[in-house]
Amino acid sequence: QHTLQQATSKTTPIMSERPKLLEFEGIMLTHIFTDNWEKVKNFKARPDDILIATYPKAGTTWLSEIVDQLYFGEMEGRKPNIPIYERVPFLEICMEGLEKGTDAVERLPTSPRLIKTHLPVQLVPKSFWEQNCRVLYVARNPKDNLVSFYHFDRMNKVQPEAGPWDKYIDKFNSGQLVFGSWYDHVQGWWNKRETYPRMLYLFYEDMNEDLSREISRISSFLGLSPSEKEKERVTGKTKFETMKSNSMADYSTFDMMDQSISPFMRKGTVGDWKNHFTVAQNAEFDEEYKRRMEKSTLAFRMEI
Ligand code: A3P
Repeated sequence: QHTLQQATSKTTPIMSERPKLLEFEGIMLTHIFTDNWEKVKNFKARPDDILIATYPKAGTTWLSEIVDQLYFGEMEGRKPNIPIYERVPFLEICMEGLEKGTDAVERLPTSPRLIKTHLPVQLVPKSFWEQNCRVLYVARNPKDNLVSFYHFDRMNKVQPEAGPWDKYIDKFNSGQLVFGSWYDHVQGWWNKRETYPRMLYLFYEDMNEDLSREISRISSFLGLSPSEKEKERVTGKTKFETMKSNSMADYSTFDMMDQSISPFMRKGTVGDWKNHFTVAQNAEFDEEYKRRMEKSTLAFRMEI
């Protein structure tokens, strides 16, 4: 019996204490993402696989739900109660009590297979490029991304402790968070577009500004032509409020998150950083941001 057809019971990975950061292949990770590395590295992609790539907390679940809805939302016979992390498995995850990401992908009964990764572009298994897979990347402005990551690390026991807010900003800027430097991540993927055209680079802020417009862009990139009615359905299904009240999207079935500390579907807005950064922290951050991004054509909207 395939787990995809089972569903709603709790997913309980086993983890007695929070994992420590370790350096791996030039970035910071935890053992959860390195223990299955040989299999991840040698993963055999299929040409129709769709890779959803992000720096953590940039809108991974949102984009995953959109793409899943576009392909399978109306699929006959598919049970509605499958958590997002089973519909779109996390390629590099490996922890006790949880099926390895690579195995979960291999057991997906539907195609195309939708696959999530947080890997920086240089660590993506090479078969995705060789097979010319479609890749969707979503990036989010660094201040909101950082705020979201901070609250996530507070509540998610499979992540290192967040620690104090002030220090967290330094950790973000120095790449001392799981999956390394935000700056390297967003720019690495941005630059990849130049040599790899089969990629759609999206922004959280654009999705927030006009979800149905972005769903149309995503559909065309995927070669899908949903009717207006179907697009409306997907838009409705992937609005923040809908996803927040959907137990198959909000990770409430994933036992290692203490959502009483901070909910997974926390705010879903642009500009929440203003409620966190002091004036001084913001000025310092802006300096660093300018310095790190000045050679890049990549630009972010910090508010809309
Ligand atoms: P906040 O913590 O700012 O609320 P990820 O899926 O990459 O872990 O990202 C989680 C972030 O995306 C959270 O941000 C979450 O609220 C937000 N998010 C998830 N679904 C969303 C939606 N439908 N609309 C807007 N934001 C969404």
